[in-house]
Amino acid sequence: MSDTPPGINGKSPLPAGRLPGLQVPRMDEYSQAFGRELMLHGPADTEALGARIAAGLRVGTAVALEGDLGAGKTVLARSILRALGVEEDVPSPTFTLVQSYETAKLPVRHYDLYRIEKATEMEELALEEALDEGAALIEWPERASAYIPDDALHVRLEIAGENSRRAFLSGPHRWARELETLKS
Ligand SMILES: Nc1ncnc2c1ncn2[C@@H]1O[C@H](COP(=O)(O)OP(=O)(O)OP(=O)(O)O)[C@@H](O)[C@H]1O
Ligand SMILES: [Mg+2]
Repeated sequence: MSDTPPGINGKSPLPAGRLPGLQVPRMDEYSQAFGRELMLHGPADTEALGARIAAGLRVGTAVALEGDLGAGKTVLARSILRALGVEEDVPSPTFTLVQSYETAKLPVRHYDLYRIEKATEMEELALEEALDEGAALIEWPERASAYIPDDALHVRLEIAGENSRRAFLSGPHRWARELETLKS
């Protein structure tokens, strides 16, 4: 018998303080410029948010997807990729740490940093190079916050009910315009 609680998506909660000093996401002037809270009443609302984020992606855009295990980060990343026309399977990059997609609009890399041991592993994951060529969707950005660009769009998801999620969005001001058609 193990006293480890059963994991979600093959993950178990990590012991607190596993990465000292890297737990707190860096807040900066950019990420303060736009802020919005959105209620996602079901997966269809999450898909709609994903479609708007997809429309706003440019070369160099990083989307930091924050929230607890099972909050919906992968569901949102999948919605973004589907909106960009990706038809292939979009698995959670829990073990591979990164998956790359070619889309008609731009290349997109989907990261899940939950399992990185040291933030410096980010060097191998080539986020900077990815952003030179395309966009990046990053789950668990808190694991390597020093590597997350200042102008990232941050999406924090909170579980509000079985099928509802609260989304806290922040980032550069242009996102106010990109996301304005979404209903709260
Ligand atoms: N409105 C919603 N938006 C997103 N997911 C939802 C919603 N309602 C229910 N869910 C469910 O919540 C779960 C979200 O799982 P998902 O793998 O996306 O979480 P995650 O945040 O990526 O977790 P992890 O930290 O393990 O990677 C799925 O089972 C999904 O069906
Ligand atoms: Mg996930």
